[in-house]
Amino acid sequence: MNARSSLTVVLAAGEGTRMRSALPKVLHPVAGQPLLAHVLHAAPHDKGSRLAVVIGPDHRAVADEVHRIRPDAETFVQRERLGTAHAVLAARAAIARGADDLLVAFGDTPLITAETFGRMRAPLQQGAALAVLGFRAADPTGYGRLLMQGGRLVAIREHADASAEERKVTLCNAGVMALDGRNALKILDRIGNANSKGEYYLVDAVTIVRDLGLEAVVIETSEDEVRGINTKAQLAEAEGVMQERLRKQAMEAGVTLIAPETVYLAADTKFGKDVTIEPFVVIGPGVSIADGTVIHSFSHIVQATIGKNTSVGPYARLRPGTSLGDGAKIGNFVETKAATLEAGVKVNHLSYIGDTEIGANSNIGAGTITCNYDGFTKNKTIIGKGAFVGTNSSLVAPVKIGDGAYIGSGSVITKDVPDDAMAVERSQQSIREGGASRYREAKTRGKKPKA
Ligand code: UD1
Ligand code: CA
Repeated sequence: MNARSSLTVVLAAGEGTRMRSALPKVLHPVAGQPLLAHVLHAAPHDKGSRLAVVIGPDHRAVADEVHRIRPDAETFVQRERLGTAHAVLAARAAIARGADDLLVAFGDTPLITAETFGRMRAPLQQGAALAVLGFRAADPTGYGRLLMQGGRLVAIREHADASAEERKVTLCNAGVMALDGRNALKILDRIGNANSKGEYYLVDAVTIVRDLGLEAVVIETSEDEVRGINTKAQLAEAEGVMQERLRKQAMEAGVTLIAPETVYLAADTKFGKDVTIEPFVVIGPGVSIADGTVIHSFSHIVQATIGKNTSVGPYARLRPGTSLGDGAKIGNFVETKAATLEAGVKVNHLSYIGDTEIGANSNIGAGTITCNYDGFTKNKTIIGKGAFVGTNSSLVAPVKIGDGAYIGSGSVITKDVPDDAMAVERSQQSIREGGASRYREAKTRGKKPKA
């Protein structure tokens, strides 16, 4: 925890036209979370930390997302896009309330870490008025260049305004800045728009700080951490970097990933001890997997709570609202949705279990379907503990199967089955001796056989 208070202003007013999408840019997902969510999670959280997000007009969905993630955050609308400094000043009311450190970050830079925000704040504590996050760009085209003199930062030059000599500089502006709160408004208000685009550039804060006789410093980080997303290709690159990070974190926490490069995780995936994930597994948002569980290959899991020592897949699909008790088993080609399976339940093959509760140690046979949808509403299936449902049964919801009940295979169950009862419901098999040859004879004579 930092003893100094902070305000982080996240700029997210851009349209993101190059994404070629109806969705605002900062809501596109990386590792199952909107770009903006990653930045908001990395920004300082502790007591004494405030958050403001600058959004574009008509970006209601962005404001909703901000409040979902950080209910304490304020949002400000920037009506005209007049540049990054203009965008920061859209949050003037929040800045004017004062904070020791003013941090500025971009909403389309999802790989930024909490640690870096911390590193940016340290020089302010030591008296600097401004800290700029810099990186060595493999290709600096388009970025603002950090111009140094005798090891000191003197200016940032936007690519469009830079001379041929300045364009050779590879140390670039990542976009994140930290300003001493006492001087922040004074500095921001002095920024003008005398440049080739006629925009108010936040980067001009550097020369203003120097003119005031104050100190501006550079904190360096890796290019991977500050990748900005403007296109779908860059979105995919960021996904790659983020997945590598998440896999590494999972393995460091003791998860066995047999082929890490084939496993996709979400930023919020939670693991217990001794979890094994086989190759080619996709885990979406809202998943927790407890100790000793094995997720077999080709499984797809979203918003599910998975107990201890369970086995899932191969080829399982756990959809939102799935909860598996300890020791449960979900086998191949099983789909679950809004389903609570208590400890020791087995659904081993080819089933759909939706809007269902299943008591402990029940066994659900191959091909069992809970028929939860009657064309109008979704209905519930409740199965007691220790029940046995034979293969290829259809349980037509709403329906209750009691504790210890036994359902014969091939049954279509439309009425409740009490505890310990047996229900077998199938069309009776009729066997006629010699029926097959009479059928073939009738066919050769070109006559339709009698039923
Ligand atoms: C900016 C920096 C550049 C840096 C680069 C790093 C400035 C002037 N330039 O350039 O030095 O190397 O980022 O990626 O700061 N935004 C608003 N309102 C505006 C303008 C921008 O909210 O009026 C937001 C955008 O949504 C975006 C961020 O600010 O999240 C950066 O704007 P963008 O136009 O992408 O700046 P760059 O040209 O990339
Ligand atoms: Ca950008």
